[in-house]
Amino acid sequence: MATTQTLLQVKNLDVQFQTNDGPVYAVNQLNFELGRGETLGIVGESGSGKSQTVLAMMGLLAKNGKASGQVLYQGQDLLSMPAQQLNKIRGNRVAMIFQDPMTSLNPYLTVERQMTEVLELHKSMGRKQAKTRAIELLEAVKIPDAARRIDMYPHEFSGGMRQRVMIAMALLCEPEVLIADEPTTALDVTVQAQILALLRDLQRDFGTAIVLITHDLGVVAGICDRVMVMYGGRVMEYAQANDIFYQPSHPYTIGLLGALPRLNSDNAELLSIPGNPPNMNNLPKGCPFSPRCQVAIDRCSTELPTLISASHQANVMRACHRPIDELTTPVAQELSHV
Ligand SMILES: Nc1ncnc2c1ncn2[C@@H]1O[C@H](COP(=O)(O)OP(=O)(O)O)[C@@H](O)[C@H]1O
Ligand SMILES: [Mg+2]
Repeated sequence: MATTQTLLQVKNLDVQFQTNDGPVYAVNQLNFELGRGETLGIVGESGSGKSQTVLAMMGLLAKNGKASGQVLYQGQDLLSMPAQQLNKIRGNRVAMIFQDPMTSLNPYLTVERQMTEVLELHKSMGRKQAKTRAIELLEAVKIPDAARRIDMYPHEFSGGMRQRVMIAMALLCEPEVLIADEPTTALDVTVQAQILALLRDLQRDFGTAIVLITHDLGVVAGICDRVMVMYGGRVMEYAQANDIFYQPSHPYTIGLLGALPRLNSDNAELLSIPGNPPNMNNLPKGCPFSPRCQVAIDRCSTELPTLISASHQANVMRACHRPIDELTTPVAQELSHV
């Protein structure tokens, strides 16, 4: 799946934490590419390694964590570059937004102060020019009455509006890549839809590439070009969004799809995947999903499947000994009935 004008290239990324209970392999052998203006969704239940993936990419892991592999941004490896050089890229060329805006907004400063400071520092703008630009960006994220509201403090905004302020902050330096880690998880469904529509618009208008992280497969529909499904620190399936939704091949992806409300059903019943997310200190030798997988065989718990192209679709990559498209048993038919 080569892309033209690759911006970001992640190669064999591993993240390991040292804990009192031994090492935790939070992310294993992750590979992906992000092209200019493209959107990648990273999806998986809580604890699957989504946040640690992007924190590692940005050099923001906790002290007991270590990343290895390569994260090439325009050919330069973020993992091995000096902190000073990384600081210039982080927040500037590659920006991040989080579930909780208060982690990136300063509660003691007005929005104007926070936004103009960044522009004065990174773009050498004067105060007045910076304020004009900041108001433009608040308008771009559809904050009504931006020229007045810019004087307010973060807590004076509603949750959804605060999320918009954070997005505007992230866009100040016109990043080429915006990493959004569960940006809508804390919001109600209507506001969530508005923020996703906003991200889509910004991508169209600014051409920003987006990495959108979510535990909810429904969120990536209609916004992502490609989707990477993670479980237990590994990639289970990686494919074009359409293939993930219409031709999923990994039993875990199918489980996640089954947990979405069914559009064509009268009773929009939610199915969850039986069992619990894995204990990262005690993963099975084989596929991390095998203990919960309804079609697993003995081999699944002993031999780690590698990520390879699907037989029916070379663009679909999956790590599975029992991909649904290769099964003919009734349980497979039942599982694929999503
Ligand atoms: N500081 C840490 N020390 C030890 N293990 C950690 C630490 N931070 C995260 N982890 C482990 O990494 C796993 C993946 O975490 P994370 O990427 O944050 O999950 P999510 O997919 O919900 O974003 C967690 O299940 C946890 O076991
Ligand atoms: Mg997370």
